[in-house]
Amino acid sequence: MVGILTLVTGWPGPSGFGSASTAEMVTDGIDASNLTAIVTGGASGIGAETARVLALRGAYVIIAARNMDAANNAKQLILQSNPAGRVDVLKLDLCSFKSIRTFVDNFNSMDLPLNILINNAGVMFCPYQLSEDGVEMQFATNHLGHFLLTNLLLDNMKRTAKDTGIEGRIVNLSSIAHLHSYEEGIRFDSINDEARYHDKRAYGQSKLANILHANELSRRLQKDGANITVNSVHPGLIMTNLMRHSFYLMKVFQFLTYICWKNVAQGAATTCFVALHPSLKGVTGKYFLDCNEMAPSRLARDETLAKRLWDFSEQLVNQG
Ligand SMILES: NC(=O)c1ccc[n+]([C@@H]2O[C@H](COP(=O)([O-])OP(=O)(O)OC[C@H]3O[C@@H](n4cnc5c(N)ncnc54)[C@H](OP(=O)(O)O)[C@@H]3O)[C@@H](O)[C@H]2O)c1
Ligand SMILES: *[C@@H]1O[C@H](CO)[C@@H](O)[C@H](O)[C@H]1NC(C)=O
Ligand SMILES: *[C@@H]1O[C@H](CO)[C@@H](O)[C@H](O)[C@H]1NC(C)=O
Ligand SMILES: *[C@@H]1O[C@H](CO)[C@@H](O)[C@H](O)[C@H]1NC(C)=O
Repeated sequence: MVGILTLVTGWPGPSGFGSASTAEMVTDGIDASNLTAIVTGGASGIGAETARVLALRGAYVIIAARNMDAANNAKQLILQSNPAGRVDVLKLDLCSFKSIRTFVDNFNSMDLPLNILINNAGVMFCPYQLSEDGVEMQFATNHLGHFLLTNLLLDNMKRTAKDTGIEGRIVNLSSIAHLHSYEEGIRFDSINDEARYHDKRAYGQSKLANILHANELSRRLQKDGANITVNSVHPGLIMTNLMRHSFYLMKVFQFLTYICWKNVAQGAATTCFVALHPSLKGVTGKYFLDCNEMAPSRLARDETLAKRLWDFSEQLVNQG
């Protein structure tokens, strides 16, 4: 309830920021010039705004995208307003294990450190289809692709954190939609079951997986003594390309709930806050909404489920 009230009024929460805060506001005065960041899906929507603001604060930003025209376009837009910005684009298709491996090879050959990884790319409500590797598309793109990507980048992130003494940060774009998954949470035994596919619940499932996964990784990194935090965020409701599979439905929904919607500058705020803000030093395995920590669903906090998802994901990635 408090959530709705602060969302509508834009009143700040304990962090000093709220739903009306923009990505620029929450990173005001922060110097990120020693940091390198990868933003998946950084060619459009919240990801593009995240890339722009990270670059504005001085970070070297790699836009990882499958649509290279859109990615180059996003890069040009950033450079227009910020000619000193350091931005590169690299091809990445998260529904292909092969593309993910190629991306990591290409990134590694650039010989860059990696401080920040923003797992932002996503698809929503698409009709039933399988990824190149034969996994239901929303689970494959939103969760499994990022699972593999993150694992492949982790060595570099650990090395960077160790060599520089600067805390690494992984930010996962989840969603409030994680509350609306399948009843059992994750359908381990029927992940590809077309007959029981429900486009909305499959999205919820993938976004639940994002939180479970961030939490499990956070626990593993703490055990390893790695100076890397992992947190999940719900960015708010923002009209972006994400709505392409449900455009009219979302327009009607937006009309009915218009006071709850944000613009893209506000939509990137929670991501940028969690990626850069000094007040979050050492904070890991948490879920944020409108720049403030919140408790996610009961399922999302289930450690046994998180562990099971990790093993399940590892199996899928290794057989592909
Ligand atoms: N907008 C909201 O209200 C909202 C609410 C909650 C959570 N989120 C989350 O926020 C994140 C960003 O969404 P957005 O609203 O900014 O949507 P968006 O504008 O559609 O951005 C998503 C980006 O992900 C990319 N992408 C999709 N599939 C990909 C793949 N297989 N490989 C590489 N890139 C891929 C898209 O590229 P293409 O154009 O090539 O598809 C696009 O650039 C998503 O994770 C979403 O779940 C958004
Ligand atoms: C960036 O790194 C240099 C060299 O290690 C250091 O002197 C400087 O203080 C760092 N800047 C910030 C903002 O941390
Ligand atoms: C979130 O975090 C985990 C662990 O890093 C990752 O593998 C998972 O798939 C990520 N998903 C997204 C889209 O944020
Ligand atoms: C981890 O990073 C933080 C912030 O950059 C730093 O202050 C801290 O000393 C680091 N901790 C370790 C164990 O290296």
